Amino acid sequence: MKELLIKTKNLDFSYTKGKKDIKNLSLEVPKGSIYGFLGPNGSGKTTTIRLLLGLLKKNGGTIEIFDQLIEKSRIESLSKIGALIENPSLYENLNAHENLKIAANYRGNISKERIDEVLEIVKLTYAKGKKVKAYSLGMKQRLGLAISLLSNPELLILDEPTNGLDPKGIIEMRSLIKELNQEHGTTIFISSHLLSEIEKTCTHVGIIRAGEMLFQDTVKVLQESQNDTLKVEIETNDIKTVASVLETLSFSSEQVNDHTIATTLQHKKDITTVIDTIRNRKVEIYQIKIMNNLEELFLSLTEN
Ligand SMILES: Nc1ncnc2c1ncn2[C@@H]1O[C@H](COP(=O)(O)OP(=O)(O)O)[C@@H](O)[C@H]1O
Ligand SMILES: [Mg+2]
Repeated sequence: MKELLIKTKNLDFSYTKGKKDIKNLSLEVPKGSIYGFLGPNGSGKTTTIRLLLGLLKKNGGTIEIFDQLIEKSRIESLSKIGALIENPSLYENLNAHENLKIAANYRGNISKERIDEVLEIVKLTYAKGKKVKAYSLGMKQRLGLAISLLSNPELLILDEPTNGLDPKGIIEMRSLIKELNQEHGTTIFISSHLLSEIEKTCTHVGIIRAGEMLFQDTVKVLQESQNDTLKVEIETNDIKTVASVLETLSFSSEQVNDHTIATTLQHKKDITTVIDTIRNRKVEIYQIKIMNNLEELFLSLTEN
């Protein structure tokens, strides 16, 4: 069994009565992974991250971090997590070194050497004496990352770290994330609304929409399922006839319940063939459901 650094089960949360913002969310983030938390704007990524960090109180479900229920060991867990949510708060009139010193004092127990180390990791040593207000957005984001690295965290949680960055800034952030994972062994949980971003950086992916997890697996499995066959369920008044129609057409058939039969098709146009043939036999079709239609989901994640 792979070790999970984050594990939630049936997580529920609402900001206001009558609207569920997080529904039954089950997350599994393996140790050593770069886990991409993918979803359109407003789908619940930041809310989930706030729940993981205990900044919001869940309404239901469980959260385990480092194998401990969050209620039992929040302080201990947080000491092993570095987080960067939305834009980091920085002192614009101070330089990078001074910003890090303040953050280090606040956290306590952080050596002078570590400040130089994190500057090195995020490649800001050359600019450490420059006031932050003269930094590009990408440099500010990297300084935010440096702050979250001060305590040498085992788990790094980054909320849309490439948002608003120019292409150069995006590439720099991406390679930093990979470096941290490969050279320092840090497990990284990173949110994004762009599929392309997740595909380039991550080993694992969870796709969220309207507060619900729609898909969770490795990026490899996700990419393979993009060219997958269609799994279709047909609801009808006569499953015997439908089964024989499918057999005649050389499609598989599997009974789901008294009124529903499932089949696997190679192409979308096969759906028309199946419907036409069934209707020719004067059988009623109540519903046709495509069970693994990731295509539509991808569209909502790639358009921007
Ligand atoms: N402070 C808040 N009060 C009420 N609703 C909120 C608040 N923050 C976010 N929401 C709502 O919760 C949902 C999820 O938002 P959010 O987690 O910010 O999404 P994402 O980070 O994926 O863009 C949205 O419908 C958003 O409008
Ligand atoms: Mg957000």
